[in-house]
Amino acid sequence: LRASTHIERTPQPCAIVVFGATGDLTHRKLVPALYNLAVDKLLPPNFAIIGFARRPWSDDYFREEMLKGVQEFSRRKPDPKIWESFAQNLYYVQSEFDNVEGYQKLKDFLDKLDSEKGLGGNRLYYLSASPSYYETIVERLGDVGLSGRSRRAEQGYTRIIIEKPFGHDLQSARELNDLLHQFFSEDQIFRIDHYLGKETVQNILVFRFANSIFEPIWNRNYIDHVQITAAESIGIEGRGKYYEESGALRDMMQSHLLQLLNLVAMEPPVAFDANSVRDEKVKVLRAIRPIRGNAVADQVVRGQYGPGLIDGKEVPGYRQEPNVDPNSVTETYVAIKLFIDNWRWQGVPIYMRTGKRLKKRVTEIAIQFKQPPLLLFGQQTDGIIEPNVLALRIQPDEGISLTVSVKTPGTRLNIRPVKMEFLYGTGFGIEPPEAYERLLLDAMIGDSTLFTRHDEVEASWAFITDILDAWKQLPPPQFPNYESGSWGPRDADRLLYRDGREWRWL
Ligand code: BG6
Repeated sequence: LRASTHIERTPQPCAIVVFGATGDLTHRKLVPALYNLAVDKLLPPNFAIIGFARRPWSDDYFREEMLKGVQEFSRRKPDPKIWESFAQNLYYVQSEFDNVEGYQKLKDFLDKLDSEKGLGGNRLYYLSASPSYYETIVERLGDVGLSGRSRRAEQGYTRIIIEKPFGHDLQSARELNDLLHQFFSEDQIFRIDHYLGKETVQNILVFRFANSIFEPIWNRNYIDHVQITAAESIGIEGRGKYYEESGALRDMMQSHLLQLLNLVAMEPPVAFDANSVRDEKVKVLRAIRPIRGNAVADQVVRGQYGPGLIDGKEVPGYRQEPNVDPNSVTETYVAIKLFIDNWRWQGVPIYMRTGKRLKKRVTEIAIQFKQPPLLLFGQQTDGIIEPNVLALRIQPDEGISLTVSVKTPGTRLNIRPVKMEFLYGTGFGIEPPEAYERLLLDAMIGDSTLFTRHDEVEASWAFITDILDAWKQLPPPQFPNYESGSWGPRDADRLLYRDGREWRWL
């Protein structure tokens, strides 16, 4: 975000230890991201990536599996020469997560790598195992003197990246924060939300605060409402077990969508450093008016997909997915209408929605401005005057557009909306890095601007937990209530119709 110098962006040598390295995330996202950093020469000259997990894999087997991951999921296909030298830095340590000897073995191995490769004692741990193991892993690291608090600063840096879900409600998020703080200090903890690593998400702040023309109108005097959509056409992708415990509210709303809201709604920070930016984000979360009790039925809509057609192909309903209860009431869709009680946003409704198996994949933030104070052309025009909408398209077709009304050519006074548009794809002609590339690099550098702080996580869970609690008091929902391939349940449309508005056609 900051106009960083070259020196700041070059990480020191380090060892990256991935706990749960045989899982999906490592070969789909982490190793492809690290490989791409290697291609771009952004990794430190000396590094090691150590997979730590239960399966009895060897170094060679780990390397082969990771190569398959890069072949299938990386934005660049592996170049044999670069891969060869990258893969020499991949290692595997086999252990049960609660076995203290496994961690001792890891420690000895890290010491050996330090002296052989000159890693300077720097350690970056990545918790990519099931959250049920987080506590065990962190405690065992402490037992063998590998945790942040058990190492002295002269021994090298110690940092830990935590994958989501970070808790499943306010209470468990607090407990996890407390546990982590016993073993690591806050500046050693990097809670990842991969949306913050997306190029277009980072651009929200640049767009707002590097231009002078938008900020004066970025408030309740000019904005009618805001819509945030994160629609997915995929289903749960074989993650039935996880998703049954999670649902859309926890999986997407608590993390990614509230983060998008923070960036759109926050005040300008006093500086572009990690704490100043996060101070402002947490203020937004604290200003969100809680939705409790009866207000939940009014302001929150949940849904679950039934069978339907996606791109002309039949897909099963959520209840027919593997590892899903055939009577499940887990929501795969959620829409919320909320308000932020502060001077900038008072009275401006914010509508947010996210769901699986929707018509298409699209993530967008739309700021809809108020109508002009006087509709001068009302009677003389054939067309209606559409409001100005600023749309920040996060994915796909990343870009920014502003809808404005213009006169169409001709002797009649016809008014039509047109788009002033900037597209990343054609604007720069370069492919942006993947979110994990940016975030892994930031963690190696020690910049936590794009990671969530403990109070931020707790404030977002406080808002979400009220809704979860209210749902428990309501009769079970009638699911499924939307077809795969549709735009979600009808009730979500009513949420806006009632206010004389509608969801944007995306
Ligand atoms: C993850 C969720 O955090 O984000 C998934 O657990 C979801 O359910 C994914 O599909 C969406 O990420 P992206 O980058 O594809 O928009």
